[in-house]
Amino acid sequence: MTDLLQVKGLTKIFGSMQAVNGIDFTIKEGHCVALLGPNGAGKTTTIRMLTGLLKPTKGSVQFHQANRGDDSRQLLGYLPQSPSFHPWMSGLEYVIYAGELCGLNGSMAKKRAIELMERVGLGDAAKRRIGGYSGGMKQRLGLAQALVHRPKLLIMDEPVSALDPLGRREVLHLLQELKKEISVLFSTHVLHDAEELCDDVVIINKGQVALQGSLATIRNTHRKPIIELEVEMNQQSRAWLATFMNRVHNKQDQVLMKFTSIEGVELTDNRLRITATDIDAARWKLLEEITKERVKVNRFTVGHSSLEDLFMKVVSQ
Ligand SMILES: Nc1ncnc2c1ncn2[C@@H]1O[C@H](COP(=O)(O)OP(=O)(O)O)[C@@H](O)[C@H]1O
Ligand SMILES: [Mg+2]
Repeated sequence: MTDLLQVKGLTKIFGSMQAVNGIDFTIKEGHCVALLGPNGAGKTTTIRMLTGLLKPTKGSVQFHQANRGDDSRQLLGYLPQSPSFHPWMSGLEYVIYAGELCGLNGSMAKKRAIELMERVGLGDAAKRRIGGYSGGMKQRLGLAQALVHRPKLLIMDEPVSALDPLGRREVLHLLQELKKEISVLFSTHVLHDAEELCDDVVIINKGQVALQGSLATIRNTHRKPIIELEVEMNQQSRAWLATFMNRVHNKQDQVLMKFTSIEGVELTDNRLRITATDIDAARWKLLEEITKERVKVNRFTVGHSSLEDLFMKVVSQ
Protein backbone atom coordinates (compact mmCIF):
# COMPACT_ATOMS: atom_id res chain seq x y z
CA MET A 1 0.00 0.00 0.00
CA THR A 2 1.51 3.33 -0.97
CA ASP A 3 1.70 6.25 1.37
CA LEU A 4 -0.55 9.15 0.60
CA LEU A 5 0.58 11.59 3.19
CA GLN A 6 3.44 11.81 5.57
CA VAL A 7 3.59 14.04 8.62
CA LYS A 8 6.98 14.61 10.21
CA GLY A 9 7.82 16.43 13.41
CA LEU A 10 4.70 18.56 13.14
CA THR A 11 4.73 21.23 15.82
CA LYS A 12 2.63 24.26 16.68
CA ILE A 13 3.38 26.72 19.41
CA PHE A 14 0.88 29.48 20.24
CA GLY A 15 2.79 31.98 22.38
CA SER A 16 3.78 29.89 25.36
CA MET A 17 1.33 27.11 24.54
CA GLN A 18 2.78 24.07 22.79
CA ALA A 19 -0.42 22.74 21.22
CA VAL A 20 1.23 20.15 18.97
CA ASN A 21 4.61 18.79 19.88
CA GLY A 22 6.49 16.88 17.17
CA ILE A 23 3.88 14.56 15.68
CA ASP A 24 4.79 11.88 13.12
CA PHE A 25 2.36 9.70 11.23
CA THR A 26 1.58 8.36 7.79
CA ILE A 27 -1.69 7.90 5.95
CA LYS A 28 -1.75 4.99 3.54
CA GLU A 29 -3.78 5.18 0.39
CA GLY A 30 -7.24 3.71 0.85
CA HIS A 31 -6.99 3.68 4.64
CA CYS A 32 -9.27 5.31 7.16
CA VAL A 33 -7.33 6.87 10.01
CA ALA A 34 -8.70 8.20 13.28
CA LEU A 35 -6.88 10.95 15.10
CA LEU A 36 -8.06 10.12 18.57
CA GLY A 37 -7.50 12.07 21.76
CA PRO A 38 -9.21 13.87 24.62
CA ASN A 39 -10.29 17.51 24.39
CA GLY A 40 -7.32 19.82 24.13
CA ALA A 41 -5.01 17.05 22.85
CA GLY A 42 -4.16 19.02 19.70
CA LYS A 43 -6.41 17.35 17.12
CA THR A 44 -7.90 20.50 15.60
CA THR A 45 -4.53 22.21 15.51
CA THR A 46 -3.00 19.18 13.73
CA ILE A 47 -5.85 19.04 11.22
CA ARG A 48 -5.64 22.76 10.49
CA MET A 49 -1.96 22.34 9.72
CA LEU A 50 -2.68 19.40 7.41
CA THR A 51 -5.21 21.44 5.49
CA GLY A 52 -2.83 24.38 5.14
CA LEU A 53 -5.05 26.71 7.18
CA LEU A 54 -2.44 27.02 9.89
CA LYS A 55 1.30 27.31 9.39
CA PRO A 56 3.32 24.82 11.44
CA THR A 57 5.95 26.23 13.79
CA LYS A 58 8.09 23.25 12.77
CA GLY A 59 7.81 20.04 10.81
CA SER A 60 6.34 19.03 7.49
CA VAL A 61 3.26 17.65 5.79
CA GLN A 62 4.01 15.91 2.56
CA PHE A 63 1.56 14.59 0.00
CA HIS A 64 3.16 11.90 -2.08
CA GLN A 65 0.79 12.38 -4.97
CA ALA A 66 1.56 16.03 -5.34
CA ASN A 67 3.68 16.86 -8.35
CA ARG A 68 6.10 19.65 -7.90
CA GLY A 69 4.22 22.89 -8.08
CA ASP A 70 0.83 21.27 -7.53
CA ASP A 71 -1.41 22.80 -4.95
CA SER A 72 -1.85 20.03 -2.39
CA ARG A 73 -5.18 21.51 -1.36
CA GLN A 74 -6.66 20.03 -4.53
CA LEU A 75 -5.94 16.62 -3.11
CA LEU A 76 -7.91 17.06 0.05
CA GLY A 77 -11.48 17.71 1.00
CA TYR A 78 -12.07 19.25 4.39
CA LEU A 79 -15.04 19.29 6.74
CA PRO A 80 -14.34 21.58 9.71
CA GLN A 81 -15.59 20.96 13.24
CA SER A 82 -18.52 23.35 13.02
CA PRO A 83 -19.13 24.29 9.42
CA SER A 84 -21.33 27.32 8.89
CA PHE A 85 -23.82 27.53 6.07
CA HIS A 86 -26.03 30.29 4.73
CA PRO A 87 -29.41 29.14 6.07
CA TRP A 88 -31.29 30.81 3.22
CA MET A 89 -29.51 28.82 0.52
CA SER A 90 -30.78 25.44 -0.60
CA GLY A 91 -28.42 22.50 -0.10
CA LEU A 92 -28.04 22.12 -3.83
CA GLU A 93 -27.22 25.81 -4.33
CA TYR A 94 -24.59 25.52 -1.65
CA VAL A 95 -22.81 22.58 -3.29
CA ILE A 96 -23.00 24.27 -6.71
CA TYR A 97 -21.45 27.35 -5.14
CA ALA A 98 -18.68 25.20 -3.58
CA GLY A 99 -18.06 23.57 -6.98
CA GLU A 100 -17.74 26.94 -8.69
CA LEU A 101 -15.29 28.08 -6.04
CA CYS A 102 -13.22 25.01 -6.93
CA GLY A 103 -13.13 26.10 -10.55
CA LEU A 104 -15.96 24.07 -12.12
CA ASN A 105 -18.05 25.95 -14.67
CA GLY A 106 -21.76 26.51 -13.99
CA SER A 107 -23.14 23.43 -15.71
CA MET A 108 -20.38 21.11 -14.46
CA ALA A 109 -20.87 22.39 -10.92
CA LYS A 110 -24.60 21.74 -11.15
CA LYS A 111 -24.13 18.24 -12.51
CA ARG A 112 -21.61 17.36 -9.82
CA ALA A 113 -23.78 18.90 -7.09
CA ILE A 114 -26.85 16.88 -8.08
CA GLU A 115 -24.76 13.71 -8.12
CA LEU A 116 -23.27 14.45 -4.71
CA MET A 117 -26.57 15.37 -3.06
CA GLU A 118 -27.81 11.94 -4.12
CA ARG A 119 -24.62 10.33 -2.90
CA VAL A 120 -24.96 11.78 0.62
CA GLY A 121 -28.64 10.90 0.79
CA LEU A 122 -29.97 14.43 0.38
CA GLY A 123 -31.47 13.99 -3.08
CA ASP A 124 -35.01 14.65 -1.84
CA ALA A 125 -33.96 17.57 0.34
CA ALA A 126 -31.67 19.17 -2.27
CA LYS A 127 -33.97 22.10 -2.98
CA ARG A 128 -34.94 22.79 0.64
CA ARG A 129 -33.38 25.65 2.60
CA ILE A 130 -30.38 24.62 4.72
CA GLY A 131 -31.99 26.46 7.64
CA GLY A 132 -34.50 23.62 7.91
CA TYR A 133 -31.92 20.79 7.82
CA SER A 134 -31.22 18.60 10.86
CA GLY A 135 -27.72 18.35 12.30
CA GLY A 136 -27.06 15.08 10.50
CA MET A 137 -28.28 16.55 7.21
CA LYS A 138 -25.97 19.55 7.62
CA GLN A 139 -22.99 17.27 8.23
CA ARG A 140 -23.89 15.27 5.14
CA LEU A 141 -24.16 18.50 3.17
CA GLY A 142 -20.73 19.43 4.51
CA LEU A 143 -19.46 16.11 3.17
CA ALA A 144 -20.94 16.80 -0.27
CA GLN A 145 -19.15 20.15 -0.24
CA ALA A 146 -15.86 18.55 0.82
CA LEU A 147 -16.05 16.01 -2.00
CA VAL A 148 -16.98 18.38 -4.80
CA HIS A 149 -13.50 18.53 -6.38
CA ARG A 150 -12.92 14.76 -6.16
CA PRO A 151 -10.17 14.87 -3.54
CA LYS A 152 -7.90 11.93 -2.72
CA LEU A 153 -8.15 12.43 1.03
CA LEU A 154 -11.14 13.47 3.08
CA ILE A 155 -10.27 15.24 6.34
CA MET A 156 -12.93 15.78 8.99
CA ASP A 157 -12.70 17.33 12.43
CA GLU A 158 -15.03 15.62 14.92
CA PRO A 159 -17.60 14.80 12.23
CA VAL A 160 -20.17 13.28 14.59
CA SER A 161 -19.45 14.87 17.96
CA ALA A 162 -22.15 17.51 17.86
CA LEU A 163 -24.88 15.21 16.56
CA ASP A 164 -27.76 13.52 18.31
CA PRO A 165 -27.84 9.70 18.16
CA LEU A 166 -29.89 9.64 14.97
CA GLY A 167 -27.68 12.16 13.16
CA ARG A 168 -24.67 10.26 14.36
CA ARG A 169 -25.98 7.03 12.84
CA GLU A 170 -26.74 8.76 9.53
CA VAL A 171 -23.28 10.24 9.23
CA LEU A 172 -21.41 7.12 10.43
CA HIS A 173 -23.35 5.05 7.94
CA LEU A 174 -22.45 7.42 5.12
CA LEU A 175 -18.80 7.45 6.16
CA GLN A 176 -18.76 3.64 6.14
CA GLU A 177 -19.72 3.86 2.47
CA LEU A 178 -17.43 6.75 1.54
CA LYS A 179 -14.33 5.19 3.03
CA LYS A 180 -14.53 2.46 0.39
CA GLU A 181 -13.87 5.10 -2.24
CA ILE A 182 -11.51 7.58 -0.64
CA SER A 183 -8.77 7.80 2.01
CA VAL A 184 -10.07 9.34 5.21
CA LEU A 185 -8.63 11.08 8.24
CA PHE A 186 -10.98 12.16 10.98
CA SER A 187 -10.54 13.34 14.52
CA THR A 188 -12.62 12.22 17.45
CA HIS A 189 -12.48 12.15 21.23
CA VAL A 190 -14.82 9.14 21.24
CA LEU A 191 -13.06 5.80 21.02
CA HIS A 192 -16.20 4.05 19.88
CA ASP A 193 -16.41 6.17 16.72
CA ALA A 194 -12.81 5.38 15.91
CA GLU A 195 -13.40 1.66 16.43
CA GLU A 196 -16.45 1.68 14.25
CA LEU A 197 -14.83 3.31 11.25
CA CYS A 198 -11.09 3.25 11.09
CA ASP A 199 -8.32 0.88 10.04
CA ASP A 200 -5.55 2.83 11.75
CA VAL A 201 -5.51 5.00 14.79
CA VAL A 202 -3.18 7.75 15.97
CA ILE A 203 -3.83 8.44 19.63
CA ILE A 204 -2.59 11.83 20.71
CA ASN A 205 -2.40 13.32 24.15
CA LYS A 206 -0.98 16.70 25.17
CA GLY A 207 0.23 17.39 21.64
CA GLN A 208 2.15 14.13 21.28
CA VAL A 209 1.50 10.74 19.74
CA ALA A 210 0.83 8.35 22.59
CA LEU A 211 0.18 5.27 20.49
CA GLN A 212 -0.36 4.51 16.83
CA GLY A 213 -0.86 1.60 14.49
CA SER A 214 -3.53 -0.51 12.94
CA LEU A 215 -6.52 -1.01 15.17
CA ALA A 216 -6.23 -4.78 14.88
CA THR A 217 -2.57 -4.81 15.90
CA ILE A 218 -3.12 -2.46 18.81
CA ARG A 219 -6.05 -4.54 19.96
CA ASN A 220 -3.97 -7.73 19.90
CA THR A 221 -0.73 -6.47 21.36
CA HIS A 222 -2.32 -4.64 24.24
CA ARG A 223 -4.93 -7.20 25.14
CA LYS A 224 -4.55 -8.33 28.72
CA PRO A 225 -6.48 -10.84 30.74
CA ILE A 226 -8.82 -9.26 33.26
CA ILE A 227 -10.84 -10.63 36.12
CA GLU A 228 -13.93 -8.74 37.14
CA LEU A 229 -15.31 -9.44 40.54
CA GLU A 230 -18.49 -7.96 41.91
CA VAL A 231 -19.35 -8.54 45.54
CA GLU A 232 -22.36 -7.95 47.70
CA MET A 233 -21.43 -5.15 50.06
CA ASN A 234 -21.45 -6.13 53.72
CA GLN A 235 -18.98 -5.95 56.55
CA GLN A 236 -17.01 -8.98 55.46
CA SER A 237 -16.62 -7.96 51.85
CA ARG A 238 -15.75 -4.38 52.81
CA ALA A 239 -13.02 -5.61 55.11
CA TRP A 240 -11.67 -8.07 52.57
CA LEU A 241 -11.66 -5.48 49.77
CA ALA A 242 -9.79 -2.99 51.93
CA THR A 243 -7.15 -5.55 52.91
CA PHE A 244 -6.85 -6.83 49.37
CA MET A 245 -6.30 -3.35 47.93
CA ASN A 246 -3.75 -2.68 50.59
CA ARG A 247 -1.82 -5.84 49.90
CA VAL A 248 -1.67 -5.13 46.19
CA HIS A 249 -0.69 -1.49 46.60
CA ASN A 250 2.02 -2.19 49.10
CA LYS A 251 3.28 -5.06 46.97
CA GLN A 252 4.27 -6.85 50.14
CA ASP A 253 2.14 -9.90 49.74
CA GLN A 254 4.53 -12.20 47.93
CA VAL A 255 1.98 -14.90 47.30
CA LEU A 256 -0.46 -12.53 45.74
CA MET A 257 2.00 -10.61 43.64
CA LYS A 258 4.47 -13.26 42.64
CA PHE A 259 2.51 -16.42 42.20
CA THR A 260 -0.61 -14.94 40.77
CA SER A 261 1.21 -12.25 38.80
CA ILE A 262 -1.40 -9.66 39.63
CA GLU A 263 -0.36 -6.45 37.93
CA GLY A 264 -3.00 -4.01 38.95
CA VAL A 265 -6.35 -3.60 40.60
CA GLU A 266 -9.05 -1.03 40.29
CA LEU A 267 -11.91 -0.74 42.72
CA THR A 268 -15.17 1.02 41.86
CA ASP A 269 -17.89 0.68 44.46
CA ASN A 270 -18.35 -3.06 44.79
CA ARG A 271 -16.51 -3.97 41.60
CA LEU A 272 -12.92 -5.06 41.41
CA ARG A 273 -11.01 -5.24 38.12
CA ILE A 274 -7.82 -7.19 38.23
CA THR A 275 -5.15 -7.48 35.54
CA ALA A 276 -2.81 -10.41 35.79
CA THR A 277 -0.32 -12.14 33.53
CA ASP A 278 -1.04 -15.62 34.86
CA ILE A 279 -4.78 -15.52 34.76
CA ASP A 280 -5.33 -19.06 35.99
CA ALA A 281 -3.19 -18.64 39.06
CA ALA A 282 -4.95 -15.36 39.81
CA ARG A 283 -8.39 -16.83 39.46
CA TRP A 284 -7.67 -19.82 41.71
CA LYS A 285 -6.10 -17.63 44.34
CA LEU A 286 -8.98 -15.18 44.29
CA LEU A 287 -11.66 -17.83 44.43
CA GLU A 288 -9.86 -19.49 47.30
CA GLU A 289 -9.65 -16.23 49.24
CA ILE A 290 -13.18 -15.10 48.75
CA THR A 291 -14.45 -18.49 49.78
CA LYS A 292 -12.26 -18.56 52.85
CA GLU A 293 -13.21 -15.01 53.85
CA ARG A 294 -16.87 -15.73 53.16
CA VAL A 295 -17.21 -12.84 50.75
CA LYS A 296 -20.54 -12.89 48.97
CA VAL A 297 -19.82 -12.87 45.24
CA ASN A 298 -22.40 -11.57 42.80
CA ARG A 299 -20.33 -11.93 39.68
CA PHE A 300 -16.96 -13.36 38.75
CA THR A 301 -15.88 -13.08 35.13
CA VAL A 302 -12.66 -13.67 33.29
CA GLY A 303 -12.13 -11.75 30.07
CA HIS A 304 -9.81 -9.34 28.34
CA SER A 305 -9.06 -5.66 28.61
CA SER A 306 -10.72 -3.61 25.91
CA LEU A 307 -9.42 -0.85 23.73
CA GLU A 308 -11.33 1.48 26.04
CA ASP A 309 -9.11 0.40 28.95
CA LEU A 310 -6.02 1.08 26.86
CA PHE A 311 -7.30 4.45 25.67
CA MET A 312 -8.09 5.53 29.22
CA LYS A 313 -4.65 4.43 30.36
CA VAL A 314 -2.88 6.23 27.54
CA VAL A 315 -4.72 9.52 27.90
CA SER A 316 -4.53 9.65 31.66
CA GLN A 317 -0.73 9.64 31.61
N1 LIG B 1 -5.23 29.88 18.50
C1 LIG B 1 -4.82 29.38 19.67
N2 LIG B 1 -4.16 30.11 20.57
C2 LIG B 1 -3.73 29.61 21.75
N3 LIG B 1 -3.93 28.35 22.14
C3 LIG B 1 -4.61 27.54 21.30
C4 LIG B 1 -5.09 28.02 20.02
N4 LIG B 1 -5.72 26.98 19.41
C5 LIG B 1 -5.64 25.93 20.25
N5 LIG B 1 -4.99 26.26 21.39
C6 LIG B 1 -4.69 25.37 22.53
O1 LIG B 1 -3.99 24.24 22.03
C7 LIG B 1 -4.40 23.06 22.67
C8 LIG B 1 -4.90 22.07 21.64
O2 LIG B 1 -6.11 22.55 21.08
P1 LIG B 1 -6.92 21.81 19.94
O3 LIG B 1 -6.00 21.51 18.81
O4 LIG B 1 -8.11 22.62 19.64
O5 LIG B 1 -7.31 20.46 20.69
P2 LIG B 1 -8.45 19.39 20.34
O6 LIG B 1 -8.97 19.68 18.98
O7 LIG B 1 -7.74 18.07 20.44
O8 LIG B 1 -9.49 19.52 21.41
C9 LIG B 1 -5.47 23.46 23.67
O9 LIG B 1 -4.87 23.59 24.93
C10 LIG B 1 -5.93 24.80 23.15
O10 LIG B 1 -6.40 25.60 24.19
MG1 LIG C 1 -10.91 20.03 18.33
